[in-house]
Amino acid sequence: MKLDVFFSQLAHKIRASEVRELLKWQEKKKIISFGGGFPDPELYPVDELADIARDVILLYRGEALKYGTTEGLDELREEILKFMKRFGIKVGGLDNVIITSGSQQAIDILSRILIDPGDVVIVEKPTYLAAINAFNLSSPKYYGVPMDQEGMKIDTLESLLKEIKRRNERVKFVYTIPTAQNPTGLTMSNERRRRLIELAEEYDLLIVEDNPYSYILFEPVKYEHLKSLDKTGRVIHLSTLSKVLVPGLRIGWVIAEEDITRKMVLAKQSMDVCSSTFSQYIAYEAFRRGLIDKQLKILPKFYKRKRDLMLCFLEEYMPEKTHWIKPIGGMYIFVSLPDVVDTRELLTEALNRGVCYIPGDSFFIDRSGRNTMRLNFSYPKAHEIEEGIKILGELFREVVDKRLFTKVAA
Ligand SMILES: Cc1ncc(COP(=O)(O)O)c(C=O)c1O
Repeated sequence: MKLDVFFSQLAHKIRASEVRELLKWQEKKKIISFGGGFPDPELYPVDELADIARDVILLYRGEALKYGTTEGLDELREEILKFMKRFGIKVGGLDNVIITSGSQQAIDILSRILIDPGDVVIVEKPTYLAAINAFNLSSPKYYGVPMDQEGMKIDTLESLLKEIKRRNERVKFVYTIPTAQNPTGLTMSNERRRRLIELAEEYDLLIVEDNPYSYILFEPVKYEHLKSLDKTGRVIHLSTLSKVLVPGLRIGWVIAEEDITRKMVLAKQSMDVCSSTFSQYIAYEAFRRGLIDKQLKILPKFYKRKRDLMLCFLEEYMPEKTHWIKPIGGMYIFVSLPDVVDTRELLTEALNRGVCYIPGDSFFIDRSGRNTMRLNFSYPKAHEIEEGIKILGELFREVVDKRLFTKVAA
């Protein structure tokens, strides 16, 4: 039976997440994965969480097992407000914070409540690919802003905004991951952050600040969250426990003006009624018992070692004229190879040889960056980092040497 004809136009627009597809591959075969954005399972505080989960059921009983309110558990939202305050984000009160099923749900809701077909969304080039997939469902028009060592190039953004205004197009928001960005690991300078806020005011647009990685910084960087600089309520701040605690709880949050959180709650109601009450109580207790603080202390040191290991093996094994950005935080290294290397074309061969990465063009709205890739260093074990980078280095060297040989022979 041909079931395709029953799908809506929206369903036809849904594309498989490349990362998810690769992860399926990885589960079937023993593969060294530099693909997903997974924390190291060794850092999951399993025993503490087992105690908390048991206590939550026994202590809160039915309360922890019932449907909750869509905006989320009050106690958890209180903890999040206190937590955010420590990072300079001070907002009115509970109405400014809602719990979502991971930040991904917040991105999806924002796509539904903010974007009409043809509205302009501005993103970094490159940017988080699952955000693009979520926004795509609302058919926006994208403009991309390139990045350098100080993050999104704000001068370019300014020229772009002028041009967009001249064309009479409607910009809804700038989506940015200003701290330890995915996929580049770059962090926006404070000067640019301030300028970005000014531009948002000048051109009357919103900013979506996606912040999963500021808790994993390897260098003492001075940064101010965009939300803490926001005087006019234009910044929607998203964060999550996925990278800090465990992704399986699916606990994320949004800090925004009440008008925005209220509309998000309405949209969320028909999606999942509420985020898991059980997970929310576990998250609440994890904050209350200091487990999150403990994780915050361990994580940066642990991942810095892995980052340094990967940097060291890249140096050793990658072909000449390969460049990468040394990330100051987060979980990824973004690598640019010589132009002859097409990372998408080579992915199947890399998988055959037992290594997985994400081809860089996935992160560019214009599908450029065919010679780039994103490598995750948080998940693989130390010996896998060496083995995997060596395998990739050999593969890419073969390609470079072959192309060089063909050129000389010609
Ligand atoms: C930039 C960014 N935003 C959002 C997410 C989604 O995180 P979660 O839905 O697990 O909270 C991720 C996960 O990798 C991410 O890298």
